[in-house]
Amino acid sequence: MKSPLTAALIIANALSASAVDFTKEVKPIFNQKCYACHAVSKGKTKVDLALDTPERLAEVIKPGGQIIPGDPAKSSLLTSCKLPDDDDDSMPPKGKNRLTPAELITLETWIKEGASMTGGAAPPVAAAPPAAAPTTGGTQSWTSNDGKAIQATFMGLQGDGVLLKMAGNGETFLVPLARLSADSQAQAKAAK
Ligand code: HEC
Repeated sequence: MKSPLTAALIIANALSASAVDFTKEVKPIFNQKCYACHAVSKGKTKVDLALDTPERLAEVIKPGGQIIPGDPAKSSLLTSCKLPDDDDDSMPPKGKNRLTPAELITLETWIKEGASMTGGAAPPVAAAPPAAAPTTGGTQSWTSNDGKAIQATFMGLQGDGVLLKMAGNGETFLVPLARLSADSQAQAKAAK
């Protein structure tokens, strides 16, 4: 078990480390390695899986989908990309045009960071209405004051911090309110 202090540092790092940018880093991988068979724009959506439009990606990136935000190990899209060439379920199939180790790390990091389609340099989800915040439970998106997003469940306020349970590994962290975006601070205060 990690001490609360270590845990707070880890989350602080997670929120401040430079996030993977979906448009600049992830989309090009999908484009080069997957669109040939999984893109609406190419008219090829094998197993009804498309990775090229936000609408179709939203069907993929969700709990129970092929990409589970915060949980790379359970994200079948990533695990199928990691399978050996001769595995029948490996993606892309038949050992052709497989992902490089660097591309796998990019995908894994992006998923770990919450698989945001607006992450990286893009502004935080400012467009999202200050949702009639659910008072209990439920995974929500939280953004840091420099625009990084994580998926976590609100567990309570403590001093100047908010207790968040990470969607991925279920660990709970105390995040200083000052590290969160104005929207997320409001979300935390509304949730208490
Ligand atoms: C040459 C065509 C081709 C390419 C390229 C390709 N796929 Fe696939 N993909 C398929 C086919 C065909 C299936 C169905 C496989 C099966 O049923 O055996 C599939 C199935 C999948 C599935 C399982 C979907 C489900 O049922 O949940 C995932 C996830 C997936 N692909 C991800 C990817 C990713 C990610 C890439 C790029 C890194 C990729 N694929 C590239 C042809 C392709």
